[in-house]
Amino acid sequence: MANETMRAVRFHDYGPPSVLVVDTVDRPAPKAGEVLIRIRFAGVNPIDWKLRAGLVQRYIPTTLPATPGLDVAGTVETIGDGVTGFSVGDKVFGRGAATYAEFAVAPVATIAHIPDGVSFEQAATLHVGGVTAWLAVFDSAHLEAGQRLLVQGGAGGVGSIAVQLGRWKGAYVIATASTANVDFVRSIGADEVIDYTAVNVEDAVHDVDAVVDTVGGEVIAHSWSVLKPGGILVTVVGTADAETAAARGVRAEAVGHPVETRPILEQLGTLVASGDLNPEIQQVFPLEEAAQAQAASETGHGRGRILLKVAD
Ligand SMILES: NC(=O)c1ccc[n+]([C@@H]2O[C@H](COP(=O)([O-])OP(=O)(O)OC[C@H]3O[C@@H](n4cnc5c(N)ncnc54)[C@H](OP(=O)(O)O)[C@@H]3O)[C@@H](O)[C@H]2O)c1
Repeated sequence: MANETMRAVRFHDYGPPSVLVVDTVDRPAPKAGEVLIRIRFAGVNPIDWKLRAGLVQRYIPTTLPATPGLDVAGTVETIGDGVTGFSVGDKVFGRGAATYAEFAVAPVATIAHIPDGVSFEQAATLHVGGVTAWLAVFDSAHLEAGQRLLVQGGAGGVGSIAVQLGRWKGAYVIATASTANVDFVRSIGADEVIDYTAVNVEDAVHDVDAVVDTVGGEVIAHSWSVLKPGGILVTVVGTADAETAAARGVRAEAVGHPVETRPILEQLGTLVASGDLNPEIQQVFPLEEAAQAQAASETGHGRGRILLKVAD
């Protein structure tokens, strides 16, 4: 019997967004511990265009042609050996592999059921942005009610969720954004928004318990002085220098991802269902316009998450 096929976005060479094309390929088959997902929406994340541009091959070995994509929301199509707790037709979300396609496999350790009241669109924003924000705010920074949090890059896919998690926890949330995103970041619950294009953040912010950095580079260099003694800087972009931190009497950590993320996904899903977390969707592109979607992500000035709509 001939293999079943599907449409998948692929790049045959590293390069600009125009290297992305839609090919017809074999559908993947789930291995033990995996499911095959019929995709409704795929999230478009910065790591996807970094992969396409050939910037992260050292960390993510890639064989060409390759299909980008991690974030996924859809329904279970088939189930691999040993999978329990998921049935064909279940609505699921989380992290799969090569999700810019009609179907993708995902380990059951990195997916969860979509709760009632949560849309496929909302769910597709939640692994890369939501789990990363959760890990930074809670697993690394151990944020508590009443503490002061600074989110560097409060408008982005990670930052906009970090702001909302901080507010939900009862922290005092300060966030940075460019002028066009100030009102948006205030609307999602930041107590203070600093327009970093007009104000020097180090002059405006002080005595925070935790910085969650989603920008990296110079922004990290200008984040140390806003921390209280003993405070922590958590970055989701590369590494933070532990020696610099120690010299300043603070701590530094880079966010790390556990193998199993389902417990975090379930908590995020519950927060979206209850209205405590509102994932912002910047723009939805059809699968065929993955190149335009990645070009939009590549500007680095997004508001929430960009999605690919794969099927109705
Ligand atoms: N380690 C991990 O597991 C992990 C997971 C997810 C993401 N990441 C990385 O984290 C970064 C952010 O991801 P994302 O999905 O949130 O990206 P995104 O949606 O593109 O958001 C980036 C945000 O950064 C803001 N920004 C840019 N320059 C800034 C500056 N100088 N000061 C303050 N804010 C600034 C932009 O807002 P304005 O337009 O307001 O400037 C934009 O909203 C990416 O590099 C991504 O690869 C890492």
